[in-house]
Amino acid sequence: MPSLSIILHILQFIILLKLIQIPLYLCSNEGCENLFSCGNIKQIGFPFWGENRPKGCGYPLLNLTCISDISYITINDVKYQVLEANPILQTLRITREDYLQEGLCPSKHVNTTLDTDLFVYGSYYNNLNFFYDCPPSITFPSPSGHFPCPSNGYSDDFVYTWFGSTSNIGPQAFSCQESMVVPILSSLFDVSDFAKIQNAIKDGFVVKWIAGIEDCVKCQKSGGFCGYDWILKHTTCYCRNQSCSNSVPDSNAHPGMSKYFC
Ligand SMILES: *[C@@H]1O[C@H](CO)[C@@H](O)[C@H](O)[C@H]1NC(C)=O
Ligand SMILES: *[C@@H]1O[C@H](CO)[C@@H](O)[C@H](O)[C@H]1NC(C)=O
Ligand SMILES: *[C@@H]1O[C@H](CO)[C@@H](O)[C@H](O)[C@H]1NC(C)=O
Repeated sequence: MPSLSIILHILQFIILLKLIQIPLYLCSNEGCENLFSCGNIKQIGFPFWGENRPKGCGYPLLNLTCISDISYITINDVKYQVLEANPILQTLRITREDYLQEGLCPSKHVNTTLDTDLFVYGSYYNNLNFFYDCPPSITFPSPSGHFPCPSNGYSDDFVYTWFGSTSNIGPQAFSCQESMVVPILSSLFDVSDFAKIQNAIKDGFVVKWIAGIEDCVKCQKSGGFCGYDWILKHTTCYCRNQSCSNSVPDSNAHPGMSKYFC
């Protein structure tokens, strides 16, 4: 049976190749060629780090985490679920974890604000406004909504909802102790419908990442993998080998890997 022994030899050869390949691949560089994948979020690289992407592969504040196939990012002290990521358009669709978990009355009131060095809002979004701790006799003009906020620690047990610009509400809004802005994608919106508000929050909103993109394009064109130098605070380029064009060796490179500014 010569054909069987040939097949066995080929198999042995393939296994041998795999054994050789794996260690070569692992020690080829820092690990920035690894892309972040988690649930339906696939193949996200620079400027993000987290999970299988080491710290030096992204901006310090752009840390993605993966828990039970759900991706999270924290922006200005607010934790978001990442619902979608599009590396070509450089967009994330994100939704506030506190409103998802705690309903319309989260225990801690922190506005949605973007770090403008890192993100801009997508081309389309609207503001959903929530007002807390309002005077008991308050009435908002239509269209508005109000829902009970049980045991929220405020003197008033309701949250008032308003859609769009707050300049049309009138002075009522300013008599409330706290207000919150949550961006959503919906345009036609019934703020008196609890289920619709929840669904709109659940659908999230889109942000575009803008950090370090130009430098990264240069690096990728030279055959490298983009990263970020946390100490010198600029985009860096990790090269698999010295074939990167215009690369300058970095004396601080981690032993066992090549790190170049391409
Ligand atoms: C990364 O993000 C997670 C959750 O968003 C956080 O718990 C963790 O501390 C962060 N790690 C670093 C080093 O910032
Ligand atoms: C949220 O933003 C609104 C509008 O900019 C502001 O009036 C409000 O005080 C902020 N609320 C908190 C809790 O920071
Ligand atoms: C360097 O990397 C390039 C692209 O990844 C590859 O084509 C080339 O063969 C490598 N050279 C060496 C010496 O490993």
